[in-house]
Amino acid sequence: MACGKLIDEFGRTIRYLRLSVTDRCDLRCNYCMGEAMQFLPRRELLDLDELVRLADGFITRGVNKIRLTGGEPLVRAVTLPLIDELGKRLGHGLDELTMTTNATNLARHAQRIADAGVKRLNVSLDTRDPAAFAALTNRDMLNRVLDGIDAALDAGIKIKLNTVALADTNREEIPDLAAWAHGKGMDITFIEVMPLGDIAAERSDQFLSLETVRRDLEQRFTLEPSSHVSGGPARYWNVAETGGRIGFISPISHNFCASCNRVRVTAKGELFPCLGHGEMTHLRAALRGPEPEQALDAALDRAMKTKPERHHFRIAKGADPALARHMSVTGG
Ligand code: 5AD
Ligand code: SF4
Repeated sequence: MACGKLIDEFGRTIRYLRLSVTDRCDLRCNYCMGEAMQFLPRRELLDLDELVRLADGFITRGVNKIRLTGGEPLVRAVTLPLIDELGKRLGHGLDELTMTTNATNLARHAQRIADAGVKRLNVSLDTRDPAAFAALTNRDMLNRVLDGIDAALDAGIKIKLNTVALADTNREEIPDLAAWAHGKGMDITFIEVMPLGDIAAERSDQFLSLETVRRDLEQRFTLEPSSHVSGGPARYWNVAETGGRIGFISPISHNFCASCNRVRVTAKGELFPCLGHGEMTHLRAALRGPEPEQALDAALDRAMKTKPERHHFRIAKGADPALARHMSVTGG
């Protein structure tokens, strides 16, 4: 029996599903992945039909926004047909379908994605400096990313850039990145690096406080607090000189859990109610068993009871990651 809305123990209604379709990626950003990552075997992943049924189960329960994430969604072949299929739910329970992508494969697919009804994309880009990009991502794909961004803009898709603030990579470039983004009509949001997953680099060397970033930006721009709310954890500022908007996501220095409306599902169907906690409810067995719709509803009800009130991230030199799980598993 399909029940009502998804409401957790703290009264928060879940309306936003972030669905990771793969843990793989064609880049190796050093704050995110090691070079030798263990990826999930293919049989563990939800297939296209399971992904669609899963999404439908959430939509039935009141979820009206779905973001596809990864890893990098566009490295998996099912992602485009999934976008086509979920696009048909727009206006029928689903208000928004979006994706977070590194844009390496966007040039080829931007038009199809736009045709499916995707109006906005988040593109992850931390530097436009070719050498810094190659050093950070361990791949030489900056031009493909820039072409992907242009193709999506040409197809009429709005882009928000997500830029991780990294002391050792992009601190000096950040004001230029903002000016460039705004010149192309894109918003840009800066993110503090989060302690997710064991990586080779020392996170406390990478960590750059967004307080510092904001002070740097104020050397060049006039920032005015914006009333804009995206339904996410970012706080926004308008830039007088460019007419554009800058967002800041500081999970470490500012806690945004009270208004959290989202859950995450991994590519193998694990529901994580919080990015910063280990609680998990498996949905794959429900999808693959008898009476999958009822089983999925029951699993979602169980998961709602486990969503924690808040996360407790901190970054200290030599500290273990807050969670062993990489961002590329749960999706950004
Ligand atoms: N901390 C902060 N951001 C991260 N991302 C990946 N790993 C981390 C991390 N440990 C970012 C990516 C992308 C988004 C999906 O998450 O750069 O912008
Ligand atoms: Fe890939 Fe994004 Fe991780 Fe970079 S941060 S390796 S683009 S998943």
